[in-house]
Amino acid sequence: MVRLSEGANRIYGEAAFEVLAKAQELERQGKNILHFEIGEPDMETPENIAKAGIQAIRDKKTHYVPSIGVLELRKAVQDEVEKTRGYRPDLEQIVITPGLKPGIFFSMLTVINPGDEVVFQDPGYPTYGSVTSFLGAKSVRVPLLEENEFRMSPDDIRDRITEKTKLIIVNSPQNPTGSVMTKPELDEIAGLAEEHDVFIVSDEIYSKMTYETDHYTPTARDEAKIRTVLLDGFSKYYAMTGWRLGYMVAPVEMVERLQDFLVSAISCTANFTQWAGVEALMGDQSFIREMMKRFKEKRDRIVEGLNSIPGFSCLAPRGAFYAFPNIKDTGMTSQECADHLLYNAGVAALPGTAFGPYGEGYLRFSYANTLENIDLAVERIKDSFK
Ligand SMILES: Cc1ncc(COP(=O)(O)O)c(C=O)c1O
Repeated sequence: MVRLSEGANRIYGEAAFEVLAKAQELERQGKNILHFEIGEPDMETPENIAKAGIQAIRDKKTHYVPSIGVLELRKAVQDEVEKTRGYRPDLEQIVITPGLKPGIFFSMLTVINPGDEVVFQDPGYPTYGSVTSFLGAKSVRVPLLEENEFRMSPDDIRDRITEKTKLIIVNSPQNPTGSVMTKPELDEIAGLAEEHDVFIVSDEIYSKMTYETDHYTPTARDEAKIRTVLLDGFSKYYAMTGWRLGYMVAPVEMVERLQDFLVSAISCTANFTQWAGVEALMGDQSFIREMMKRFKEKRDRIVEGLNSIPGFSCLAPRGAFYAFPNIKDTGMTSQECADHLLYNAGVAALPGTAFGPYGEGYLRFSYANTLENIDLAVERIKDSFK
């Protein structure tokens, strides 16, 4: 028997991949499955970005680069943050990572001790709880309520802060509910962090993906210089999930430690990928506008469709590309309902509980799919309940 570390026994994976595996097994048996479980855009990386990556390989950008990232990309991120967040970080605050996820992992490794408390949204992105558990810290879950359009309430955070609280993780626009927090809410959370000397890690991977509302960051208060860390990346709004590219803006003292974590774990983010990132940030941005126009159409279609299914009700999400319908009136648990949909309707969606216990009673549909498939899924679900 392999004698695993205690941490290895505490870290955990993501249900999305389990559902995908079940769905693919059904497909191997010849069943037709409509996929709503996968959290990535159904579009290809824009041509100008792909070309920049290919050109970078031709230009022999295939060697090691500084672990903190290629200077040109860090400068592009500096301009980007100024444009989109309203403050200009120092270059020394900017770190390039292979996707946003390592930013979560490494910033948590840098500030969390065993026994510390980490506050985050539930339902929420599974990585936060998994890394908290790996580090021997305590997960403090803030329930997201449908009555509050699934936005995390600053009062609920205040109630949960103790002398052990070390970090609050904020994710807006949010996975899995699609909620987008308001500026006053985020300002209040940043104020709480200051008052109680707590860190904030702000996961803003869906920052450019909002409808009828703007995106705000809690890092504006201290410009990521003292206690806040801004995480963003290229995966979602530039359709670059497989390229693995993200960035962090963090206090300089933290960046010095982060560099050593990066050197020890990854050496650096792929060189040519970073040049594709320069083009993404500095080139034509019309792809995002076009994608969001299409996503809005899909959001409206799926929300309307889900609301027409007996036992389902669904709020219109303000961001990302997830719908999070309430399925309590079906009388099923989230897991039962997700299994029912998969096996009886050929529709793969995730149980809300894949994102934490407070996801009970809900499902997550990623609507990065065609309008035709959205209509077909709604029809098949309706039929499966007849
Ligand atoms: C909230 C959130 N953060 C981070 C990620 C991962 O981003 P990346 O693929 O850039 O590591 C995802 C992907 O689903 C996400 O939903």
